[in-house]
Amino acid sequence: GKDGYRHFMEKELHEHPLVIGQTLQRMVDPASRRVFLPDMPFDLATVPRAVITACGSAFYAGMVGRYWLEAIARLPVDIDVASEMRYRNPPLTEGSLGLLISQSGETADTLAALRSLRQKAIHILSVLNVEHSTMARESDSVLGTVAGPEISVASTKAFTAQLTVLACLTIATARARGMLDALAEEELVAALLDLPSRAAEVFTQGAAIRRLAGVVAEARDVLYLGRGSMFPIAMEGALKLKEISYIHAEAYAAGEMKHGPISLIDRTVPIVASVPYTPLFDKTLSNLQEAKARGGRLLVFTDTKGADRVSAIAEDMVVLPHVHDFVAPILQTIPVQMLAYEVAVLKGTDVDQPRNLAKSVTVE
Ligand code: M6R
Repeated sequence: GKDGYRHFMEKELHEHPLVIGQTLQRMVDPASRRVFLPDMPFDLATVPRAVITACGSAFYAGMVGRYWLEAIARLPVDIDVASEMRYRNPPLTEGSLGLLISQSGETADTLAALRSLRQKAIHILSVLNVEHSTMARESDSVLGTVAGPEISVASTKAFTAQLTVLACLTIATARARGMLDALAEEELVAALLDLPSRAAEVFTQGAAIRRLAGVVAEARDVLYLGRGSMFPIAMEGALKLKEISYIHAEAYAAGEMKHGPISLIDRTVPIVASVPYTPLFDKTLSNLQEAKARGGRLLVFTDTKGADRVSAIAEDMVVLPHVHDFVAPILQTIPVQMLAYEVAVLKGTDVDQPRNLAKSVTVE
């Protein structure tokens, strides 16, 4: 049942801290602060390239994964949504790693992409929540997300669990490729181990998130902005809002706004920005300034270190706990999903069963 929550989505949102912790338990030794992945029939030290493919939210998790694998493990990554990857026929080096991500393990597009990669002698590593799924059977290796059953059509906890697995995979790959010494690994692992408690603190911000929801619920269009690993989180926020509140939302890399979408900005198009205090903080803030100068209403998710500077320009903001840059996209996911949820509640939509959507999309 819903354990007293109004919807499965609300219940599942509250499970973020738990599932991040459970997923870490499978892959991290807290004593040595090291990541241990199961044995896999390929060598992360020598794979020439990774090809990431998935759909919807799982694809956005993959985008964060690309950011991490390239920046931290120095592994070249290609990524596309599964329905495109399959028909692009990209040139692939034999022995590359196909990284498939899916909550259900039954998504037809992702499964078809998996099969077409397999034909090209690509190792198939899948990040899956449902352990006995079709994709699990057809993969060489599986890294499980320990999110438990996800009932709400809008994915929530499976997404942060996917990010948690991808973070561990990044650490293991970086170590194998000589990009991470023991001390640096301990630092990243410590940041991950810190997450469940920091994630739990996000729920103290419910009132602030509902305030933002009041503004967003009145809008017809909403822009979501972020940079770097926060750009896919903006995409996740926009997709969630579209799915369950039926409000049109688009995400842009904040620096790209001046190349077109800035012409949309006026008082009627709220801007939801994810701007924790990371090395991209200043750059993102100056993009937000540009939007504000054109009459944009800024609703900003930041953290305790960014709060002072954000408060100088934002119409409203939500202050989250500050965490290590590496794990900031995981933490910042929670409030953007909560925002979509609160907007849907205000709109009175069928939150768990939005129109036209199914939990698992088994047709191509
Ligand atoms: O089961 P999967 O992770 O393969 O599903 C992929 C997408 O269909 C899914 O993430 C969809 O976008 C969700 N409804 C997002 O909330």
